[in-house]
Amino acid sequence: MPHDFEKLTQYAKSFSELTPEREALLIEVGEQIKPKLAGITEDFYQHLLAIPEASAFLEGRVESLKKTHTRWMEGLFSGPFDKTYTEHMFKVGDVHVKVNLPVEFMAGAMTLINHRLIALIVETYGDDKEHCAQILSAISAVTGLSLLVMQQSYQEASLAEELEKFLKISGMSRALFTNLATAYRDK
Ligand code: HEM
Repeated sequence: MPHDFEKLTQYAKSFSELTPEREALLIEVGEQIKPKLAGITEDFYQHLLAIPEASAFLEGRVESLKKTHTRWMEGLFSGPFDKTYTEHMFKVGDVHVKVNLPVEFMAGAMTLINHRLIALIVETYGDDKEHCAQILSAISAVTGLSLLVMQQSYQEASLAEELEKFLKISGMSRALFTNLATAYRDK
Protein backbone atom coordinates (compact mmCIF):
# COMPACT_ATOMS: atom_id res chain seq x y z
CA MET A 1 0.00 0.00 0.00
CA PRO A 2 1.44 3.45 -0.86
CA HIS A 3 2.31 5.56 2.16
CA ASP A 4 0.56 8.79 2.96
CA PHE A 5 3.64 10.82 3.87
CA GLU A 6 1.63 14.02 4.30
CA LYS A 7 -0.42 12.31 7.01
CA LEU A 8 2.72 10.87 8.64
CA THR A 9 4.31 14.35 8.58
CA GLN A 10 1.36 15.87 10.42
CA TYR A 11 1.29 12.98 12.87
CA ALA A 12 5.02 13.31 13.59
CA LYS A 13 4.65 17.08 13.96
CA SER A 14 1.81 16.64 16.45
CA PHE A 15 4.28 14.92 18.81
CA SER A 16 7.48 16.76 17.99
CA GLU A 17 5.96 20.27 17.94
CA LEU A 18 8.00 21.25 14.90
CA THR A 19 6.17 24.52 14.25
CA PRO A 20 6.77 26.85 11.28
CA GLU A 21 8.58 29.25 13.68
CA ARG A 22 10.97 26.50 14.79
CA GLU A 23 11.54 25.42 11.18
CA ALA A 24 12.44 29.00 10.26
CA LEU A 25 14.80 29.24 13.24
CA LEU A 26 16.64 26.06 12.24
CA ILE A 27 17.22 27.46 8.75
CA GLU A 28 18.28 30.83 10.19
CA VAL A 29 21.01 29.35 12.39
CA GLY A 30 22.03 26.86 9.69
CA GLU A 31 24.63 29.11 8.11
CA GLN A 32 26.54 29.40 11.38
CA ILE A 33 26.02 25.80 12.55
CA LYS A 34 26.55 23.73 9.37
CA PRO A 35 30.34 24.28 9.17
CA LYS A 36 30.65 22.83 12.69
CA LEU A 37 28.75 19.60 12.05
CA ALA A 38 31.69 17.58 10.73
CA GLY A 39 33.29 17.95 14.18
CA ILE A 40 30.15 16.63 15.87
CA THR A 41 30.07 13.68 13.47
CA GLU A 42 33.69 12.85 14.25
CA ASP A 43 32.93 12.75 17.96
CA PHE A 44 29.71 10.79 17.37
CA TYR A 45 31.57 8.02 15.52
CA GLN A 46 34.33 7.87 18.14
CA HIS A 47 31.60 7.18 20.67
CA LEU A 48 29.84 4.56 18.50
CA LEU A 49 33.13 2.77 17.81
CA ALA A 50 33.59 2.33 21.55
CA ILE A 51 30.26 0.45 21.80
CA PRO A 52 31.02 -3.15 20.68
CA GLU A 53 27.46 -3.82 19.43
CA ALA A 54 27.60 -0.69 17.28
CA SER A 55 31.19 -0.92 16.04
CA ALA A 56 30.43 -4.30 14.44
CA PHE A 57 28.16 -2.49 11.96
CA LEU A 58 30.72 0.18 11.14
CA GLU A 59 33.67 -1.93 10.05
CA GLY A 60 35.10 -0.83 6.73
CA ARG A 61 32.62 1.99 6.17
CA VAL A 62 33.25 4.58 8.89
CA GLU A 63 34.73 7.18 6.56
CA SER A 64 31.87 7.00 4.04
CA LEU A 65 29.29 6.95 6.85
CA LYS A 66 30.84 10.08 8.37
CA LYS A 67 30.21 11.92 5.08
CA THR A 68 26.65 10.58 4.79
CA HIS A 69 25.99 11.48 8.38
CA THR A 70 27.32 15.05 8.13
CA ARG A 71 25.12 15.59 5.05
CA TRP A 72 22.12 14.27 6.97
CA MET A 73 22.83 16.64 9.87
CA GLU A 74 23.06 19.58 7.45
CA GLY A 75 19.53 18.67 6.41
CA LEU A 76 18.38 19.35 9.99
CA PHE A 77 19.27 22.99 9.37
CA SER A 78 18.08 23.23 5.75
CA GLY A 79 14.42 22.30 5.52
CA PRO A 80 11.80 22.20 4.22
CA PHE A 81 10.38 19.71 6.71
CA ASP A 82 7.53 18.56 4.54
CA LYS A 83 6.31 15.23 3.21
CA THR A 84 9.46 14.89 1.06
CA TYR A 85 11.60 15.16 4.21
CA THR A 86 9.39 12.57 5.93
CA GLU A 87 9.64 10.22 2.95
CA HIS A 88 13.42 10.60 2.97
CA MET A 89 13.60 9.83 6.72
CA PHE A 90 11.33 6.82 6.22
CA LYS A 91 13.74 5.52 3.56
CA VAL A 92 16.73 6.18 5.84
CA GLY A 93 14.97 4.14 8.53
CA ASP A 94 14.41 1.39 5.99
CA VAL A 95 18.10 1.31 5.04
CA HIS A 96 18.87 0.58 8.71
CA VAL A 97 16.15 -2.08 8.87
CA LYS A 98 17.72 -3.76 5.80
CA VAL A 99 21.21 -3.86 7.36
CA ASN A 100 19.61 -5.39 10.50
CA LEU A 101 20.55 -2.53 12.79
CA PRO A 102 18.75 -3.01 16.14
CA VAL A 103 15.89 -0.54 16.62
CA GLU A 104 17.36 0.88 19.83
CA PHE A 105 20.34 2.17 17.81
CA MET A 106 18.01 4.83 16.39
CA ALA A 107 17.01 6.33 19.76
CA GLY A 108 20.51 5.75 21.14
CA ALA A 109 22.20 7.51 18.23
CA MET A 110 19.72 10.39 18.30
CA THR A 111 20.46 10.88 22.01
CA LEU A 112 24.19 11.11 21.25
CA ILE A 113 23.51 13.59 18.45
CA ASN A 114 21.29 15.73 20.67
CA HIS A 115 23.93 15.83 23.42
CA ARG A 116 26.52 17.11 20.97
CA LEU A 117 24.16 19.63 19.38
CA ILE A 118 23.15 20.97 22.80
CA ALA A 119 26.82 21.59 23.67
CA LEU A 120 27.42 23.30 20.32
CA ILE A 121 24.36 25.54 20.60
CA VAL A 122 25.12 26.58 24.17
CA GLU A 123 28.71 27.36 23.15
CA THR A 124 27.55 29.41 20.13
CA TYR A 125 24.42 31.15 21.45
CA GLY A 126 24.72 30.78 25.25
CA ASP A 127 25.01 34.54 25.83
CA ASP A 128 21.36 35.02 24.85
CA LYS A 129 19.46 32.60 27.10
CA GLU A 130 16.08 33.01 25.42
CA HIS A 131 17.39 32.63 21.86
CA CYS A 132 19.49 29.66 22.94
CA ALA A 133 16.46 27.94 24.54
CA GLN A 134 14.39 28.50 21.38
CA ILE A 135 17.08 26.96 19.17
CA LEU A 136 17.40 23.97 21.50
CA SER A 137 13.63 23.40 21.37
CA ALA A 138 13.72 23.59 17.57
CA ILE A 139 16.54 21.01 17.46
CA SER A 140 14.70 18.72 19.85
CA ALA A 141 11.62 19.04 17.60
CA VAL A 142 13.39 18.18 14.34
CA THR A 143 15.43 15.29 15.77
CA GLY A 144 12.28 13.98 17.50
CA LEU A 145 10.35 14.08 14.23
CA SER A 146 13.18 12.33 12.37
CA LEU A 147 13.40 9.62 15.03
CA LEU A 148 9.66 9.01 15.05
CA VAL A 149 9.63 8.56 11.27
CA MET A 150 12.66 6.24 11.22
CA GLN A 151 11.07 4.09 13.93
CA GLN A 152 7.91 3.93 11.84
CA SER A 153 9.97 2.04 9.21
CA TYR A 154 10.97 -0.48 11.86
CA GLN A 155 7.36 -0.87 13.01
CA GLU A 156 6.12 -1.52 9.48
CA ALA A 157 8.92 -3.98 8.76
CA SER A 158 8.04 -5.85 11.95
CA LEU A 159 4.33 -6.01 10.99
CA ALA A 160 5.27 -7.30 7.52
CA GLU A 161 7.44 -9.98 9.13
CA GLU A 162 4.58 -11.04 11.41
CA LEU A 163 2.26 -11.26 8.40
CA GLU A 164 4.78 -13.45 6.53
CA LYS A 165 4.89 -15.79 9.54
CA PHE A 166 1.10 -15.91 9.75
CA LEU A 167 0.75 -16.75 6.03
CA LYS A 168 3.38 -19.47 6.32
CA ILE A 169 1.88 -21.06 9.45
CA SER A 170 -1.75 -20.82 8.31
CA GLY A 171 -1.11 -21.73 4.69
CA MET A 172 -3.38 -18.85 3.66
CA SER A 173 -2.57 -17.25 0.31
CA ARG A 174 -1.59 -13.59 0.21
CA ALA A 175 -4.45 -12.92 -2.22
CA LEU A 176 -7.02 -14.36 0.21
CA PHE A 177 -5.52 -12.42 3.10
CA THR A 178 -5.64 -9.16 1.08
CA ASN A 179 -9.27 -9.80 0.10
CA LEU A 180 -10.25 -10.48 3.70
CA ALA A 181 -8.32 -7.45 4.97
CA THR A 182 -10.03 -5.23 2.37
CA ALA A 183 -13.47 -6.61 3.24
CA TYR A 184 -12.94 -6.06 6.96
CA ARG A 185 -11.07 -2.73 6.72
CA ASP A 186 -14.02 -0.56 7.65
CA LYS A 187 -15.69 -2.97 10.09
C1 HEM B 1 20.15 9.09 14.38
C2 HEM B 1 20.46 7.97 13.85
C3 HEM B 1 21.00 7.79 12.46
C4 HEM B 1 20.80 8.52 11.33
C5 HEM B 1 19.96 9.76 11.18
C6 HEM B 1 21.52 7.88 10.26
C7 HEM B 1 21.59 8.34 8.96
C8 HEM B 1 21.96 7.54 7.89
C9 HEM B 1 21.78 7.88 6.49
C10 HEM B 1 21.23 9.20 5.97
C11 HEM B 1 22.18 6.81 5.76
C12 HEM B 1 22.19 6.69 4.22
C13 HEM B 1 20.86 6.11 3.80
C14 HEM B 1 20.76 5.88 2.29
O1 HEM B 1 21.60 5.15 1.75
O2 HEM B 1 19.84 6.44 1.69
C15 HEM B 1 22.62 5.79 6.69
C16 HEM B 1 23.09 4.54 6.33
C17 HEM B 1 23.67 3.65 7.22
N1 HEM B 1 23.82 3.82 8.57
FE1 HEM B 1 22.98 5.28 9.67
N2 HEM B 1 22.15 6.76 10.75
C18 HEM B 1 21.87 6.70 12.09
C19 HEM B 1 22.36 5.76 12.99
C20 HEM B 1 23.23 4.75 12.65
C21 HEM B 1 23.93 3.91 13.60
C22 HEM B 1 23.85 4.04 15.11
C23 HEM B 1 24.66 3.01 12.85
C24 HEM B 1 25.56 1.90 13.27
C25 HEM B 1 26.10 1.76 14.46
C26 HEM B 1 24.39 3.29 11.45
C27 HEM B 1 24.88 2.56 10.41
C28 HEM B 1 24.51 2.75 9.09
C29 HEM B 1 24.80 1.81 8.02
C30 HEM B 1 25.56 0.49 8.17
C31 HEM B 1 24.27 2.37 6.85
C32 HEM B 1 24.26 1.77 5.45
C33 HEM B 1 25.52 2.09 4.75
C34 HEM B 1 25.54 1.42 3.39
O3 HEM B 1 25.93 0.28 3.33
O4 HEM B 1 25.12 2.07 2.44
N3 HEM B 1 23.52 4.36 11.38
N4 HEM B 1 22.48 6.26 7.96
